This record gives sequence, structure tokens and C-alpha cells, in this order.
Amino acid sequence: TAQKLAATPPMGWNSWNWFAGKVTDADIRKAADLMVSSGMRDAGYVYVNIDDTWEGKRDANGVLHTNEKFPDMKALADYVHSKGLKIGIYSSPGPQTCARYEGSFGHEEQDAKTYAEWGIDYLKYDLCSFRDNMKQAYPNDPDAQDKMMRDAYMKMHNAIVKTGRPMVYSLCQYGFDQVWQWGPEVGANLWRTTNDISANYNSMMLIALAQAGLGRYAAPGHWNDPDMLEVGNGKMSHDENISHMTMWSMLAAPLIAGNNLTQMNDDVRSILTNRDAIAIDQDKLGKQAERVFSGDEIEIWSRPLSDGSVALAIFNLSHDRNVMRGLKLPLKQVGFANGAHARDLWAAKDLGMIKDTNAFTLPTHGAVLLRLTK
Ligand code: DGJ
Repeated sequence: TAQKLAATPPMGWNSWNWFAGKVTDADIRKAADLMVSSGMRDAGYVYVNIDDTWEGKRDANGVLHTNEKFPDMKALADYVHSKGLKIGIYSSPGPQTCARYEGSFGHEEQDAKTYAEWGIDYLKYDLCSFRDNMKQAYPNDPDAQDKMMRDAYMKMHNAIVKTGRPMVYSLCQYGFDQVWQWGPEVGANLWRTTNDISANYNSMMLIALAQAGLGRYAAPGHWNDPDMLEVGNGKMSHDENISHMTMWSMLAAPLIAGNNLTQMNDDVRSILTNRDAIAIDQDKLGKQAERVFSGDEIEIWSRPLSDGSVALAIFNLSHDRNVMRGLKLPLKQVGFANGAHARDLWAAKDLGMIKDTNAFTLPTHGAVLLRLTK
């Protein structure tokens, strides 16, 4: 039987966070090349996802075509596939996408068929202008608006199924209507839980902390999506990027890089491709981390892993303090009353047996990621 779609959180790269509306066919080809040469593909990043602004006009039969930035989508998909990668695309249930390009409203089956013909493996479906449709249809009835939204997501899921081509289905509606409660019912493999991330520590950490309590909604096949990675974008420091990658791995988040691969330095590459962090993210048990401690600008989150070990991550949220003072590690709470064997994954170092009194030095905005065993 076929491998279940998104049995572990999807991994790949998406054009939006760096290229936004400027992305071209050439950028996507280059990204595919670099995912191979940088080692990202072999570390597990397989989807190359084109976000908004590829769309052109519909012809007399309603078939959607690409715009001049993407001369031949089938050829592009073939190219990406030839690199041992998969390709993703983007649309909206509304008449227009967020960038005001053509959406799929009223053409859902036709568009899904077009994607399948091109060889698309992943669809991100972004609410955008469909919110106006919802408000116009039911001006004073938010429940009816929500139902209309769920139906729209179901409709595209059914359209994808009808093509017979497996496509990862990514919902982008910013967490409205507690999407984690109904995402699986509309066939979603992942759903955004918040508004858009931006390339700075505060945005990233605010989104991360908003994931508390959502762990029980994640499981193999369907995942909470705290948005795409900003590792390597903006002015995020080494330690901030470490915190970002640590948190996303703890959260069993889709790891969709969003940086400019043509300028990726070794530090960013090694953070994105760290095998031990990725193994936490991709753990087949699929249990998303939850918070075990919060206070004094320290956050500690944990998740159980399939081999019986536990991932424990400590975050220093302070802007100016390097040390975690007088805090006992919550080892007992995560099942290690008598101490644990710890491996520090970013330091790639076995720490031996640690006790709850073990002190860690955390740089400002930094994180420590531990794998604990009996
Ligand atoms: C809003 C989404 O949240 C972003 O990730 C991106 O897809 C843009 N829309 C594109 O218009």
C-alpha cells in the first residue's frame, strides 16, 4: 500500500518568505538545484513550493494558465522531479489570491485537474478574498461564515481526490475557527495556526508560544503549521535561528524553509540540515511538544519520541541575560525522576547523566535541545 501522505511533517522550501511576488521560473529551478547541492534534499527537504503570483488568466474554457513569469509549468514540474524533488503550488478558494491574482473560486475541479496534469504534489490553499464572499453571503452570522469556509476547503479536497493524484493539502486561513479541530475532516495535511510570520525573533517566538495546547491536534497525516521558516532571513542571529529551528522541531512543525538559497551561508545551512533536530521534528510517533515550564523569561517544552526517549528544549527569551539562574530542570515531570542520560543535540555532545540541578548557560534568545534517555 502507498505511504500515507504527510506521515511525518512535510519538509521543503517555499518561495514566499524571500521572493514574495517576484518569484520566477528561474528562481524555482535554481532553488531546486541548490536544495540538491546544499544537502537539503538529502536531509529531507523534498517539496519545492511556488507560492502566490504564478497565476495568469483563464481561457475561454475556464482553464487557468500561468503568467509570463512561469512560461511552462509542466516543464518546470518535470525539472523539479528530475532532481528527486517534489513540487507544490498555491491558490485560494476566493476569486482572487491575497496578491490579487486569479483564485480557484468556481473552478475548483478544473484547477485541481490542471495541477494534476502539470504533476503537482502539494497545494497550499490560502483563504484571502474568500473572506469577502463569506461576509457578503452571511453578513451577521459568523457561524454560517465559518461553515462556508469549511465547505470551501472540503470542496478543494474532494477536487484533489477526484484527480487521483496524491497532493499534500495545506490550509492557510491563519487559524480561524479553531482549524485544528476540523482540519483533518476536510482532508488537510497541515493547517496554519496563526497570522504570517516575519523574519525577526519576536514574531517567531510569539507564534511559537501560541502553539501551547495545540499538541493534541497533531498526528501522523495532519499537523499544526506555525508558518514557514525564517531561518536565514532578516537579521536573525545564530542563536535566534537555533531557537527557531529548535522550536519548530519540537512542535512537529512542517519544515518549509523560506530563505534565499543562492545566498545561504554555512551557518544557516548547518542549522537547517541538522540531522538530530530534524529527527526530532520527523519522529514517527508524531507527538507535538507541550510546555512544561514558563517563567522568568525561560520556556521549557518537551515531547515524547518513538524510541522511548524524550526531547527537552530550553529557551532563553531574555534580550540581555545569558544564564538560567536557580531553575530546576523539570526532569521528574517528563518521566526522569532519577535523572537522565542527556545528549545536547546542537553541541553534538553526550552530557552523561544529568540531574534537575544541572545548570545550562543559554545565550540571549538562544536554546538548548536535549534528547533524554533512561
Ligand atoms: C498569506 C499567507 O499567509 C502567506 O504565507 C502567503 O502565502 C501570502 N498570503 C501570499 O499572498
